[in-house]
Amino acid sequence: MLRVERLTKIFENSTDQIAGGIRDASFTLDPGTFFTMLGPSGCGKTTTLRCIAGLETPDDGIISVDGRALFDGGGKRINVPVEQRAVGMVFQSYAIWPHMTVAENVAFPLTVMKHRRYSRADIEQAVAKALAVVDLAGFQDRPAPRLSGGQQQRVALARAIVHEPRLLLLDEPLSNLDAQLRDEMRSELKRLQSRIGITTVYVTHDQSEALALSDQIAVIDKGTIRQIGSPQDIYFRPTNPFVARFVGATNLLAGRLVGAANGRGDVEVLGGRKITCLVPSAIADPSSVSVSIRPESVRLVPRADAPTIVGDNCIPGTVTGVVFLGATRRVDVVSDGVTLQVTTAADVLLPADGAVDLLFAPERTVALPGKVS
Ligand SMILES: Nc1ncnc2c1ncn2[C@@H]1O[C@H](COP(=O)(O)OP(=O)(O)OP(=O)(O)O)[C@@H](O)[C@H]1O
Ligand SMILES: [Mg+2]
Repeated sequence: MLRVERLTKIFENSTDQIAGGIRDASFTLDPGTFFTMLGPSGCGKTTTLRCIAGLETPDDGIISVDGRALFDGGGKRINVPVEQRAVGMVFQSYAIWPHMTVAENVAFPLTVMKHRRYSRADIEQAVAKALAVVDLAGFQDRPAPRLSGGQQQRVALARAIVHEPRLLLLDEPLSNLDAQLRDEMRSELKRLQSRIGITTVYVTHDQSEALALSDQIAVIDKGTIRQIGSPQDIYFRPTNPFVARFVGATNLLAGRLVGAANGRGDVEVLGGRKITCLVPSAIADPSSVSVSIRPESVRLVPRADAPTIVGDNCIPGTVTGVVFLGATRRVDVVSDGVTLQVTTAADVLLPADGAVDLLFAPERTVALPGKVS
């Protein structure tokens, strides 16, 4: 449905020489996909979205929707203007215009379309329909500031879908809301998107939002896409340390790969212990790898209870700290001078002497290129 190929837009900043933007971004979305661009502030998310919307002219690349080129930086240069791209957008900085009513806000995209004229009746009907979709039927004449934060966000969404776009572009649409409202709006947004089945490109720097909402996630670092995959892929099978660390908490152990086949391999870590794990990406230098495992994927066993556990995927350690978190506990365990974080159920008994074994399930442990720590 949406195809983005080698999209590049670089900003050279003459004042500070710090270039920004997006480089060589490629992805293809099936119809109805909820696609999220996730990454830290300044990594190029908004730039990419603005290029797709037609608000920014890329330096190079191809953007097409349903086989129709919206931008082509090649020989026959194509650049379809914003108002002919059939995209709906919710911007990052401000949601709606405070000096207008709800109906005026929502109708705005219809009134500025130059290539199509809408009658007053058409506009009223389209506005009523869009407001019904976001559960704000009857709010037409309310001045925009007299709405709650969540209602304002929904008006912004109604405005983005009023002209029935092919593609919905959302730039951190929930960032101005408090935590509880954000959770509610998150679920509402997901329901709304699957109900109208619109292909959506969503931008956020919030990893839990990305995991909860998306079919596919692209993790971006300094203008480069570092991995594209399902939430489960990104979380459990990261292909590089940046993704492993940016999405969720993780433990990284430096080591060397001593053998790999069929996506699995053995890594030698900490004093020669061997960890069998997944190897989801190509590793150019076997002598420089990191093993990544999530705190909740480590099994902690008091040493006294399991004196026989030795060998592969078992690391001995000493408990150095415990933090009570309600449903779970975070336990710090030191092994060969490295501190590992382990999440356990609140009722797991810890030994008085702190001596424990940590078990790494091979299917929850991944080897990544590059040495960290
Ligand atoms: N018009 C511009 N001129 C010069 N540099 C720009 C311009 N717009 C963006 N940049 C730079 O490009 C980089 C990417 O900006 P972008 O707005 O895409 O980031 P972002 O990922 O959306 O970040 P945030 O999460 O903070 O919104 C930044 O380093 C920024 O300083
Ligand atoms: Mg941004």
